[in-house]
Amino acid sequence: MLTKRVFSGIQPTGIPHLGNYFGALVQWTELARGRHKHFERPIFAIVDVHAYTSRFVKFGRPLYTSILDTAASLLAIGLGPENCILFRQSDILEHYYLDNVLDNFVTTARLARMTQYREKMGEQESPANGLLTYPVLQAADILLYRSNLVPVGEDQRQHIELTRDIARKFNETTQSRLFPEPEALLSGSLHARRIKSLREPARKMSKSDLDNKSFIELVEEPEVILEKVKKAKTDCESRVFYDAEKRPGISNLMRIHHLATGQSFEDIEHEFAGVESSKYKLALAEILIDKFRPVREEFKRIRADRAYLEATLAAGREQAGPLAAETVLEVKRLLGSLEAR
Ligand code: AMP
Ligand code: TRP
Repeated sequence: MLTKRVFSGIQPTGIPHLGNYFGALVQWTELARGRHKHFERPIFAIVDVHAYTSRFVKFGRPLYTSILDTAASLLAIGLGPENCILFRQSDILEHYYLDNVLDNFVTTARLARMTQYREKMGEQESPANGLLTYPVLQAADILLYRSNLVPVGEDQRQHIELTRDIARKFNETTQSRLFPEPEALLSGSLHARRIKSLREPARKMSKSDLDNKSFIELVEEPEVILEKVKKAKTDCESRVFYDAEKRPGISNLMRIHHLATGQSFEDIEHEFAGVESSKYKLALAEILIDKFRPVREEFKRIRADRAYLEATLAAGREQAGPLAAETVLEVKRLLGSLEAR
């Protein structure tokens, strides 16, 4: 059986939160730990160049700090040089080369219709070109490694569809089969695919949210988790029951609860029958504090060792580099920059 290549990326815009974790990172660790034997060792990138698109609009903590925070978080949840290739996007210049090439296989009009662009564009006074071409760089990330599967949350589905179209167009134009048409690999649990903000349950949980009470980072201190869960927006009805439409706030909390423990909504409703939602929040905070305690402790240990983090990223670059170079060579041959074989 042919093996499949798995690739995904995460922006170093802060420490991964529960949405990243349940929506994407749980799958990353499952794939890395070889639950799926017919997949190659997965490749994961910390996509710092993608983060530039929000960087120059809003400066938070230094990017380099966030890169190391992200790397340490990924290692703390069980990814590592022994089970995946983990690298920093800007370390491999082939990403830019392919980005530039692929710009010619998509129309500006199509990019302007992308949901994420339209949402972000509305937030900025004069959006930079980088925001428009963001998905092309993402397609380059994926196609550079000729990836088949891309484990991501629901919000990335449209970007993967675009990547498929770009791959197809490139193959047709060059009469080749260089690029596979990659597929998004969404979490098996529908509830994990889009975790909502704790403050505005109509929106997705997002690291770039200005209200930091809207998300819970994986390595958050217990008292902060408690505070954020307590402050999570729920409605005035105090009973604990699931109704995604009418009660988005409490339902989002129950979804997180379900994902953290595996308990069904019925079980949760049963266990907390007659309990007020404010008390329920305290119980849920305890669950999250306990679940992520080992991750927090591991994170602290790893984060203190900058040399180790840099060495891990350097090892990833060594492994990803030759794969990227090979694809670029093929692209140059197909496009006529180098002599055809
Ligand atoms: P980002 O932080 O935007 O780089 O996202 C990293 C990964 O987490 C991507 O696969 C996203 O689709 C996923 N993700 C981000 N936010 C959420 C969310 N609120 N719910 C589920 N998945 C998410
Ligand atoms: N755009 C993705 C996000 O915001 C991050 C990303 C960049 C990515 N390149 C990628 C995800 C390649 C999957 C594959 O989450």
